Amino acid sequence: MSDDFLSKIDIVDIISDYTTLKRQGNEYVGLCPFHGEKTPSFHVSREKQTYYCFGCKRGGNVITFIRTKEGLDYYDALKYLSDKTGVELPEKEEKGDVKKAKLVNKIIEMNTVAARFFHKNLRSAYGKEALEYIKKRQIMPATVKKFGLGFAPDSWDLLIKHLLSKGYTEEDILAAGLGIRTRSKTLIDRFRNRLMFPIFDVRGNVIAFGGRVLDNGLPKYINSPETACYRKKENLYGLNFARKSEQNDMVIVEGYMDAISLYQAGIDNVVASLGTALTARQALLLKRYTDNVIICYDADLAGQTATLKGMDTLAEKGCNVKVITIPEGKDPDDFIKKEGAGAFRKLIEKADSLVEYKAKVFKKQCDMETTAGKVRFLKMVAEALSKIDNRMEVEMYGKKIAQDYDISPEAILSEVYKDEKMYTTKNVQPPSNPLSFPSVESKNDGTENERRLLILLAMDNDYIPEFYEKEGDSFFEDNDHLLIFKEMLRSYRDKKTVTPAMLMQMVDENKAALFAQVLQTTHFESKELIEKAIDEAIRKHRLAKTERQYNEVLAALKNTRDDETREKLKNEFAILNRELKKLKR
Ligand code: UTP
Ligand code: MN
Repeated sequence: MSDDFLSKIDIVDIISDYTTLKRQGNEYVGLCPFHGEKTPSFHVSREKQTYYCFGCKRGGNVITFIRTKEGLDYYDALKYLSDKTGVELPEKEEKGDVKKAKLVNKIIEMNTVAARFFHKNLRSAYGKEALEYIKKRQIMPATVKKFGLGFAPDSWDLLIKHLLSKGYTEEDILAAGLGIRTRSKTLIDRFRNRLMFPIFDVRGNVIAFGGRVLDNGLPKYINSPETACYRKKENLYGLNFARKSEQNDMVIVEGYMDAISLYQAGIDNVVASLGTALTARQALLLKRYTDNVIICYDADLAGQTATLKGMDTLAEKGCNVKVITIPEGKDPDDFIKKEGAGAFRKLIEKADSLVEYKAKVFKKQCDMETTAGKVRFLKMVAEALSKIDNRMEVEMYGKKIAQDYDISPEAILSEVYKDEKMYTTKNVQPPSNPLSFPSVESKNDGTENERRLLILLAMDNDYIPEFYEKEGDSFFEDNDHLLIFKEMLRSYRDKKTVTPAMLMQMVDENKAALFAQVLQTTHFESKELIEKAIDEAIRKHRLAKTERQYNEVLAALKNTRDDETREKLKNEFAILNRELKKLKR
């Protein structure tokens, strides 16, 4: 934990570079820098050194902010903040992560050496065939240069020898994924006789490679393995260029060739997901640059499946998703070469919305000639519609689809709202209960309560030992929370301060947002109030636990016929019931 470092940096100063913050009572409020909005719902607290957006529910401390906004990992975010503010990096932090950071830097360095080597080969005798291939695919020299394309010669160890001559060891070469060990233990080049595509991160570092055969050989592509600096599922090919585009949307294609080809034709807002269905991490990465995403995958079944999956992932992260289907089953690369960028832009204009695309897919899966098929189609569309939060959009798309597929709009919309009606008019039947004791419904979510407690303890560290004596660490049921508490206890014993902002550093992005949410409704005013709040959190926690036990015993009683066991259970039940009444007060 970098308490000293964090205490020298002010979150309000840092965030003010991204959005205008106005003072409002104890907090600063502004337009959220993460999602487009017209009325401010982004809150920053100088006192707590945290932020939270009521709109998109993102939240965290200054490090989470920089990580999300600048697309940096933890270590780079610290460096970024240090460079920006002049506050020196904490020693410990550097020692802890320095080994990994050094390895990452080394691999990037080696990849850069390799990329230069591959690129140079294109203009040597080795590269003749590859150059011909490039010409055949209509890739222009300027594009070859921009994307750093190259050629790995048909040899076992040319790159390895080159790297060894520059002082890298066999171990380094393996760690970078540039060489592989054969069964006879010799080290050979991973990429041989292949057209090489360097893969860049957002900042333009070469973090991996893809290599394509020059003919119809298999496998078509060989890619770098995951290394210390490359996680396939967290990167998007071409984002380093696309993020500089003037367009306010982003086109996602499947392959290297598609991305390069579109870019060359002037569609410069294009990234490739490299043959996998889009992951949540990639969606979040995209969202740093735009909310408007257009998926343009191959029209084959694999492409269609990947599209459906990707759409949901993107929509879940709050993106506006559209889909282009290229006519006649061509891929984007074929299309743009034959029809040009103008025709492609027209496709973007006419792109289907998420539900429209789904309706198209569902139509193929249902026999629309039969009534049963039509009903099935209607149900599938209604389900897709019911995932949309915005009621106006639901109505709009519902009506549009009704029109397109010749169904009555009322039929679709009533199917969408069916569950809602059930919910509001639902008759709750009292459970038939042998003891005439109803089971109790727990109102508080235990984990939220645990978060509140950790935050309270971070607000006033003096209560840490007291809490530990009273409750021990069996209080925490969420494992992350238990680890955080242990860390807090250790810090307290080492006479180090723990702040609420620091809690967020110990968990991942999603959990940090949950902490920020609780923090937003937790106020530090006086010692007594904190003490009261801690007692209240403990009471709520006991209540939730007792309620659970009560329900368990009740269920056991229902299912037990054995008199002796029943007697025992009844005793337990009486105790729990008394305890419950006491806790409910
Ligand atoms: P495609 O087969 O569509 O490749 O696979 P492409 O990029 O359009 O290449 P061309 O036009 O045939 O030359 C899409 C992506 O899936 C990954 C690659 O990232 C590729 O760009 N892929 C495909 C592999 O990693 N390995 C393979 O063997 C095939
Ligand atoms: Mn292709």
